[in-house]
Amino acid sequence: MQIQVDTRPIEQIECDALVVVAFDKDSPGGGLAWEVTRTANALTGGWIEQLYQTAEFSGKAFETAVLHRPQDLAARRLVVIGAGKSDKFTTADLRRVSGAAVRFLKPKSMPVVALALEAGAAASEQAGAAVEGALLGDFEPDQYKTEKKETKPVETFIAVVPGGEPALAGAAQRAEIIANAQNFARALVSEPANRMTPSLLAERACQVAAEEGLECEVLDQDRMRQLGMGALLGVAQGSAEPPVLIVMRYRPAEAPEPPAHLGLIGKGVTFDSGGISIKPSEGMEKMKYDMAGAAAVIGAMHAIARLRPAIAVTALAPAVENMPGGRAQRPGDIVTTLAGKTVEVVNTDAEGRLILADVLTYARRQGCTHLVDAATLTGAIVVALGYVYIGVFASDDALRERVLEAGRAAGDKLWPMPLDDDYKEQLKSAFADLPNTGGRWGGAVTAAMFLKEFADTTPWAHLDIAGTAWLEEAKPYLAKGPSGVPVRTLLQPALRW
Ligand code: BES
Ligand code: MN
Ligand code: ZN
Repeated sequence: MQIQVDTRPIEQIECDALVVVAFDKDSPGGGLAWEVTRTANALTGGWIEQLYQTAEFSGKAFETAVLHRPQDLAARRLVVIGAGKSDKFTTADLRRVSGAAVRFLKPKSMPVVALALEAGAAASEQAGAAVEGALLGDFEPDQYKTEKKETKPVETFIAVVPGGEPALAGAAQRAEIIANAQNFARALVSEPANRMTPSLLAERACQVAAEEGLECEVLDQDRMRQLGMGALLGVAQGSAEPPVLIVMRYRPAEAPEPPAHLGLIGKGVTFDSGGISIKPSEGMEKMKYDMAGAAAVIGAMHAIARLRPAIAVTALAPAVENMPGGRAQRPGDIVTTLAGKTVEVVNTDAEGRLILADVLTYARRQGCTHLVDAATLTGAIVVALGYVYIGVFASDDALRERVLEAGRAAGDKLWPMPLDDDYKEQLKSAFADLPNTGGRWGGAVTAAMFLKEFADTTPWAHLDIAGTAWLEEAKPYLAKGPSGVPVRTLLQPALRW
């Protein structure tokens, strides 16, 4: 999809559909809060006001109505989309409205879609969100459907800001980079495990790195053995697919003061069968998304390479397949981690924390001063927060605040979760330094407590994305399947350092 910005009056915008945003008619001051929408209403002889008088359109979020061949507009159609109450409306809502507009129009063969926005102080932020929403809404994980679509795709999306400033073009371009990075991550996650093996994930990461001018290094099994990554190797040993540790490096022209080096770590289990502690078959097909954390950090690096923030960033993605088999690790096995601590593998399905443990240690040894990991780590976070919020755990208050602020800026929903030494009671093993599970209760917290042992004294934040990386149902603004969460959030700390 091509992205354009146009600052001319709306009547001059030639397109298949010009979309205007109208709010819930019960909003304070009515639904026509935006001047640009009032202009569209006036140019159409009060069409939107008339809509409000029937039940055809009331301005509820994502409602739509279409006016064909509006006389005084160059657009072939005027589309009004509902945005809910105007006093509750945020940039994050606009991102969704824009996505919903694209998803409404895309099955209707509309190559050129325009969205009318307000000029003013928030215009750049809004144009950025609109562009992101449009690109994210357009994404469809349908690469394996062989039946050809009869309809034309949306080829061009125009953010229209009448009287807007030239700076808008920059904001739109940045948004395009960010949303494309997120869609790139979604494309990786949407690949089934028979195609997206650890080696292929490494290949794709290195391909991006080569295109964008990043350094890419792939540590293989022999190297992991030399280093002593016993926890990572233990998880991988049941699979015929060899494990890899993908390392992508971005270095800024000028280092920040005081020096900082951000490590982004993503869980890359290309398929999680549970191993010998095998999962029930119902829903197991979804465990191809257990590499969503890895996809997110690779996607984030894609954008970081283009946006060139003033901080060194290293992405580290351990990629393995968790399988049962004659060589698989068994419950009760004891592995020695890179940090030297021993772990009793009580449950082979708690594999994410094992691979991340070694990589947290490795990241510290690579000189990372701050660590942020993203992982589809626990079913317990889904019990706690459902499919809505990402759980955030942090060993450092300043870094937690940075990450929560990143979520607000990016429009991702993040909720702070506790870490407390009292939970250590649950992480006791009779035979090793640590067990890999902490029992039934507080499973998302004990998993995070386990990771904290390996982040050690380095400020570290952990995002449990098990509930949010995959959409169980399509939304008006997003397809069913990989959400690309938390690519936008991961980018923000680096961009704002
Ligand atoms: N990949 C799963 C977590 C998960 C669950 C992701 C649901 C997405 C949706 C993880 O490896 C896992 O199996 N965790 C176990 C840990 C338990 C054995 C301590 C879990 O949450 O059940
Ligand atoms: Mn598991
Ligand atoms: Zn897993």
